[in-house]
Amino acid sequence: MSDEFAGKSALIVGGTSGIGEAAVDGFADKGCNVVLAGLEPDLGQRIEQRINEGGKARACFVQTDVRDEAQVMRLVERAAETFGRIHFAFNNAGVEGPYGPIHDISAADFDRVIGVNLKGVWLCLKHELRHMLERGGGAIVNTSSSAGVVSIPQVGVYSASKHAIIGLSKAAALENARANIRINVVAPGPVRTGLLSRMVAGQVDLDTIAESVPVGRISEPAEIAAAVIWLCSSSASFITGHTLVVDGGLTVA
Ligand SMILES: NC(=O)c1ccc[n+]([C@@H]2O[C@H](COP(=O)([O-])OP(=O)(O)OC[C@H]3O[C@@H](n4cnc5c(N)ncnc54)[C@H](O)[C@@H]3O)[C@@H](O)[C@H]2O)c1
Repeated sequence: MSDEFAGKSALIVGGTSGIGEAAVDGFADKGCNVVLAGLEPDLGQRIEQRINEGGKARACFVQTDVRDEAQVMRLVERAAETFGRIHFAFNNAGVEGPYGPIHDISAADFDRVIGVNLKGVWLCLKHELRHMLERGGGAIVNTSSSAGVVSIPQVGVYSASKHAIIGLSKAAALENARANIRINVVAPGPVRTGLLSRMVAGQVDLDTIAESVPVGRISEPAEIAAAVIWLCSSSASFITGHTLVVDGGLTVA
Protein backbone atom coordinates (compact mmCIF):
# COMPACT_ATOMS: atom_id res chain seq x y z
CA MET A 1 0.00 0.00 0.00
CA SER A 2 2.96 2.34 0.59
CA ASP A 3 3.59 3.62 -2.95
CA GLU A 4 0.30 3.00 -4.66
CA PHE A 5 -1.12 6.45 -3.76
CA ALA A 6 1.90 8.44 -4.96
CA GLY A 7 1.03 10.87 -7.77
CA LYS A 8 -2.68 10.05 -7.61
CA SER A 9 -5.33 12.42 -6.30
CA ALA A 10 -8.02 12.36 -3.66
CA LEU A 11 -11.01 14.63 -3.14
CA ILE A 12 -11.77 15.06 0.56
CA VAL A 13 -15.12 16.74 1.16
CA GLY A 14 -15.39 18.01 4.72
CA GLY A 15 -11.61 18.16 4.87
CA THR A 16 -11.11 21.35 6.87
CA SER A 17 -11.12 19.83 10.38
CA GLY A 18 -11.51 16.65 12.40
CA ILE A 19 -11.67 13.33 10.52
CA GLY A 20 -11.45 14.98 7.10
CA GLU A 21 -8.32 16.95 8.02
CA ALA A 22 -6.72 13.72 9.28
CA ALA A 23 -7.59 12.09 5.95
CA VAL A 24 -5.99 14.99 4.05
CA ASP A 25 -2.82 14.48 6.11
CA GLY A 26 -2.95 10.69 5.65
CA PHE A 27 -3.35 10.78 1.86
CA ALA A 28 -0.73 13.54 1.48
CA ASP A 29 1.74 11.57 3.63
CA LYS A 30 1.49 8.82 1.01
CA GLY A 31 2.26 11.25 -1.79
CA CYS A 32 -1.36 11.54 -2.91
CA ASN A 33 -2.41 15.03 -4.05
CA VAL A 34 -5.53 16.32 -2.32
CA VAL A 35 -8.36 18.66 -3.13
CA LEU A 36 -10.05 19.52 0.14
CA ALA A 37 -13.45 21.11 0.45
CA GLY A 38 -15.38 22.57 3.32
CA LEU A 39 -17.09 25.67 4.57
CA GLU A 40 -14.26 27.48 6.38
CA PRO A 41 -11.78 29.27 4.05
CA ASP A 42 -9.37 30.14 6.88
CA LEU A 43 -9.03 26.51 7.98
CA GLY A 44 -8.93 25.19 4.41
CA GLN A 45 -6.25 27.62 3.24
CA ARG A 46 -4.11 26.87 6.30
CA ILE A 47 -4.24 23.12 5.57
CA GLU A 48 -3.56 23.72 1.87
CA GLN A 49 -0.47 25.75 2.76
CA ARG A 50 0.75 23.16 5.31
CA ILE A 51 0.52 20.31 2.77
CA ASN A 52 2.14 22.33 -0.02
CA GLU A 53 5.00 23.39 2.27
CA GLY A 54 5.44 19.79 3.49
CA GLY A 55 6.57 18.83 0.00
CA LYS A 56 5.16 15.27 -0.06
CA ALA A 57 2.05 16.11 -2.12
CA ARG A 58 0.14 19.06 -3.50
CA ALA A 59 -3.10 20.41 -2.03
CA CYS A 60 -5.84 22.72 -3.23
CA PHE A 61 -8.70 24.06 -1.09
CA VAL A 62 -12.09 24.79 -2.67
CA GLN A 63 -14.70 26.43 -0.46
CA THR A 64 -17.89 24.45 -1.04
CA ASP A 65 -21.32 24.12 0.50
CA VAL A 66 -22.37 20.55 -0.29
CA ARG A 67 -26.08 21.45 -0.20
CA ASP A 68 -25.68 23.45 -3.43
CA GLU A 69 -25.38 21.35 -6.61
CA ALA A 70 -23.69 24.14 -8.60
CA GLN A 71 -20.95 24.38 -5.96
CA VAL A 72 -20.46 20.60 -5.91
CA MET A 73 -20.19 20.53 -9.72
CA ARG A 74 -17.62 23.33 -9.59
CA LEU A 75 -15.67 21.44 -6.91
CA VAL A 76 -15.43 18.26 -9.01
CA GLU A 77 -14.47 20.32 -12.09
CA ARG A 78 -11.76 22.19 -10.11
CA ALA A 79 -10.38 18.88 -8.79
CA ALA A 80 -10.28 17.42 -12.29
CA GLU A 81 -8.66 20.56 -13.75
CA THR A 82 -6.08 20.77 -10.95
CA PHE A 83 -4.89 17.17 -10.85
CA GLY A 84 -6.30 15.68 -14.06
CA ARG A 85 -8.25 12.93 -12.42
CA ILE A 86 -9.94 12.05 -9.11
CA HIS A 87 -8.86 8.54 -8.10
CA PHE A 88 -10.32 8.61 -4.58
CA ALA A 89 -13.16 10.52 -2.98
CA PHE A 90 -14.06 10.78 0.70
CA ASN A 91 -17.52 12.26 1.27
CA ASN A 92 -17.22 13.24 4.89
CA ALA A 93 -18.95 16.61 5.31
CA GLY A 94 -21.44 16.44 8.12
CA VAL A 95 -23.19 18.39 10.83
CA GLU A 96 -24.46 17.34 14.21
CA GLY A 97 -28.17 17.45 14.82
CA PRO A 98 -29.77 19.10 17.80
CA TYR A 99 -29.60 16.97 20.96
CA GLY A 100 -33.11 16.07 22.11
CA PRO A 101 -36.18 13.94 21.45
CA ILE A 102 -37.70 13.71 17.98
CA HIS A 103 -40.87 15.55 19.03
CA ASP A 104 -38.81 18.63 19.91
CA ILE A 105 -36.85 18.89 16.64
CA SER A 106 -37.77 21.78 14.35
CA ALA A 107 -38.37 21.42 10.63
CA ALA A 108 -35.48 23.84 10.02
CA ASP A 109 -33.08 21.58 11.96
CA PHE A 110 -34.38 18.53 10.08
CA ASP A 111 -33.73 20.25 6.74
CA ARG A 112 -30.24 21.38 7.82
CA VAL A 113 -29.11 17.93 8.99
CA ILE A 114 -30.61 16.01 6.06
CA GLY A 115 -29.43 18.73 3.64
CA VAL A 116 -25.77 18.40 4.59
CA ASN A 117 -25.51 14.78 5.70
CA LEU A 118 -27.69 13.08 3.08
CA LYS A 119 -28.31 15.44 0.16
CA GLY A 120 -24.69 16.60 0.36
CA VAL A 121 -23.32 13.05 0.15
CA TRP A 122 -25.71 12.27 -2.70
CA LEU A 123 -24.67 15.36 -4.69
CA CYS A 124 -20.97 14.60 -4.20
CA LEU A 125 -21.49 10.96 -5.18
CA LYS A 126 -23.47 11.98 -8.26
CA HIS A 127 -20.77 14.23 -9.68
CA GLU A 128 -17.81 12.10 -8.58
CA LEU A 129 -19.43 9.06 -10.22
CA ARG A 130 -19.91 10.93 -13.50
CA HIS A 131 -16.22 11.83 -13.42
CA MET A 132 -15.06 8.32 -12.48
CA LEU A 133 -17.32 6.65 -15.05
CA GLU A 134 -15.69 8.79 -17.76
CA ARG A 135 -12.17 8.09 -16.46
CA GLY A 136 -12.47 4.34 -15.98
CA GLY A 137 -12.86 3.90 -12.22
CA GLY A 138 -12.07 4.98 -8.70
CA ALA A 139 -12.82 4.35 -5.04
CA ILE A 140 -15.24 6.31 -2.86
CA VAL A 141 -15.82 6.26 0.89
CA ASN A 142 -18.81 7.93 2.54
CA THR A 143 -18.95 8.78 6.25
CA SER A 144 -21.81 7.32 8.25
CA SER A 145 -21.58 6.76 12.03
CA SER A 146 -22.22 4.18 14.71
CA ALA A 147 -25.51 6.15 14.85
CA GLY A 148 -26.10 4.90 11.29
CA VAL A 149 -25.78 1.27 12.36
CA VAL A 150 -27.76 1.30 15.62
CA SER A 151 -30.27 3.87 16.79
CA ILE A 152 -29.01 6.42 19.27
CA PRO A 153 -31.75 8.21 21.21
CA GLN A 154 -31.68 12.03 21.37
CA VAL A 155 -29.97 12.32 17.98
CA GLY A 156 -32.80 10.84 15.91
CA VAL A 157 -32.54 12.95 12.76
CA TYR A 158 -28.73 12.71 12.70
CA SER A 159 -29.10 8.94 13.17
CA ALA A 160 -31.63 8.79 10.28
CA SER A 161 -29.28 10.72 7.99
CA LYS A 162 -26.43 8.34 8.80
CA HIS A 163 -28.60 5.21 8.23
CA ALA A 164 -29.60 6.68 4.85
CA ILE A 165 -25.96 7.09 3.78
CA ILE A 166 -25.49 3.33 4.13
CA GLY A 167 -28.53 2.61 1.93
CA LEU A 168 -27.45 5.13 -0.70
CA SER A 169 -23.92 3.74 -0.73
CA LYS A 170 -25.10 0.14 -1.17
CA ALA A 171 -27.21 1.12 -4.18
CA ALA A 172 -24.32 3.11 -5.66
CA ALA A 173 -21.95 0.18 -5.10
CA LEU A 174 -24.25 -2.21 -6.97
CA GLU A 175 -24.90 0.23 -9.81
CA ASN A 176 -21.16 0.71 -10.36
CA ALA A 177 -19.79 -2.73 -9.48
CA ARG A 178 -18.90 -3.52 -13.12
CA ALA A 179 -17.48 -0.05 -13.74
CA ASN A 180 -14.34 -0.46 -11.62
CA ILE A 181 -15.71 1.92 -8.97
CA ARG A 182 -15.85 0.70 -5.39
CA ILE A 183 -18.10 2.53 -2.94
CA ASN A 184 -17.84 1.84 0.79
CA VAL A 185 -18.81 3.44 4.07
CA VAL A 186 -16.89 4.17 7.24
CA ALA A 187 -18.98 4.25 10.42
CA PRO A 188 -17.00 5.85 13.25
CA GLY A 189 -17.90 5.66 16.91
CA PRO A 190 -17.13 8.72 19.02
CA VAL A 191 -14.14 10.67 17.64
CA ARG A 192 -12.34 13.56 19.33
CA THR A 193 -13.52 16.41 17.07
CA GLY A 194 -15.42 19.67 17.30
CA LEU A 195 -18.56 17.97 16.01
CA LEU A 196 -18.71 15.52 18.93
CA SER A 197 -18.10 18.28 21.50
CA ARG A 198 -20.82 20.46 19.95
CA MET A 199 -23.27 17.57 19.70
CA VAL A 200 -23.16 16.62 23.38
CA ALA A 201 -22.34 20.05 24.91
CA GLY A 202 -24.15 20.51 28.19
CA GLN A 203 -25.65 16.99 28.00
CA VAL A 204 -22.92 14.37 28.40
CA ASP A 205 -19.21 14.83 29.08
CA LEU A 206 -16.56 13.19 26.93
CA ASP A 207 -15.28 11.04 29.84
CA THR A 208 -18.73 9.47 30.22
CA ILE A 209 -18.81 8.75 26.47
CA ALA A 210 -15.31 7.22 26.64
CA GLU A 211 -16.43 4.99 29.50
CA SER A 212 -19.33 3.68 27.36
CA VAL A 213 -16.94 2.50 24.63
CA PRO A 214 -15.74 -1.10 25.22
CA VAL A 215 -12.08 -0.16 24.62
CA GLY A 216 -12.50 2.64 27.18
CA ARG A 217 -11.70 5.69 25.09
CA ILE A 218 -12.79 7.98 22.28
CA SER A 219 -10.92 7.55 18.99
CA GLU A 220 -8.54 10.03 17.42
CA PRO A 221 -9.40 11.32 13.89
CA ALA A 222 -6.31 9.61 12.42
CA GLU A 223 -7.69 6.19 13.42
CA ILE A 224 -10.74 6.80 11.21
CA ALA A 225 -8.63 8.24 8.39
CA ALA A 226 -6.48 5.08 8.39
CA ALA A 227 -9.59 2.96 7.74
CA VAL A 228 -10.67 5.27 4.91
CA ILE A 229 -7.26 5.09 3.23
CA TRP A 230 -7.25 1.31 3.57
CA LEU A 231 -10.72 1.09 1.95
CA CYS A 232 -9.34 3.15 -0.97
CA SER A 233 -6.25 0.95 -1.31
CA SER A 234 -5.74 -2.14 -3.44
CA SER A 235 -5.77 -4.18 -0.20
CA ALA A 236 -9.54 -3.63 -0.27
CA SER A 237 -9.89 -4.44 -3.98
CA PHE A 238 -12.74 -6.96 -3.49
CA ILE A 239 -14.68 -4.82 -1.02
CA THR A 240 -17.62 -2.76 -2.20
CA GLY A 241 -20.95 -1.84 -0.64
CA HIS A 242 -19.45 -2.52 2.77
CA THR A 243 -19.84 -0.54 5.99
CA LEU A 244 -16.64 -0.64 8.02
CA VAL A 245 -17.53 0.11 11.64
CA VAL A 246 -14.62 1.74 13.50
CA ASP A 247 -16.01 2.19 16.99
CA GLY A 248 -13.89 0.45 19.63
CA GLY A 249 -16.61 -2.18 19.99
CA LEU A 250 -19.44 0.26 20.76
CA THR A 251 -22.04 -1.39 18.51
CA VAL A 252 -20.93 -5.00 19.11
CA ALA A 253 -23.11 -5.69 22.16
N1 LIG B 1 -16.82 13.11 15.71
C1 LIG B 1 -17.55 12.01 15.86
O1 LIG B 1 -17.70 11.50 16.98
C2 LIG B 1 -18.19 11.36 14.65
C3 LIG B 1 -18.72 10.08 14.80
C4 LIG B 1 -19.30 9.46 13.71
C5 LIG B 1 -19.38 10.12 12.50
N2 LIG B 1 -18.88 11.38 12.39
C6 LIG B 1 -18.99 12.03 11.08
O2 LIG B 1 -17.70 12.37 10.62
C7 LIG B 1 -17.80 13.44 9.68
C8 LIG B 1 -16.74 14.47 10.01
O3 LIG B 1 -17.06 15.07 11.24
P1 LIG B 1 -15.98 15.53 12.33
O4 LIG B 1 -16.33 14.84 13.58
O5 LIG B 1 -14.63 15.41 11.79
O6 LIG B 1 -16.44 17.05 12.54
P2 LIG B 1 -15.88 18.46 12.10
O7 LIG B 1 -16.92 19.44 12.53
O8 LIG B 1 -14.49 18.64 12.57
O9 LIG B 1 -15.83 18.39 10.49
C9 LIG B 1 -16.96 18.59 9.70
C10 LIG B 1 -16.53 18.93 8.29
O10 LIG B 1 -17.72 19.02 7.48
C11 LIG B 1 -17.67 20.25 6.77
N3 LIG B 1 -19.05 20.73 6.51
C12 LIG B 1 -20.06 20.93 7.38
N4 LIG B 1 -21.12 21.43 6.73
C13 LIG B 1 -20.78 21.53 5.42
C14 LIG B 1 -21.43 21.97 4.24
N5 LIG B 1 -22.70 22.44 4.27
N6 LIG B 1 -20.76 21.94 3.08
C15 LIG B 1 -19.47 21.50 3.04
N7 LIG B 1 -18.80 21.05 4.11
C16 LIG B 1 -19.45 21.09 5.28
C17 LIG B 1 -16.90 21.21 7.64
O11 LIG B 1 -16.41 22.29 6.85
C18 LIG B 1 -15.80 20.27 8.16
O12 LIG B 1 -14.79 20.16 7.20
C19 LIG B 1 -19.24 13.93 9.75
O13 LIG B 1 -19.95 13.40 8.67
C20 LIG B 1 -19.74 13.33 11.06
O14 LIG B 1 -21.13 13.15 11.04
C21 LIG B 1 -18.28 12.02 13.43
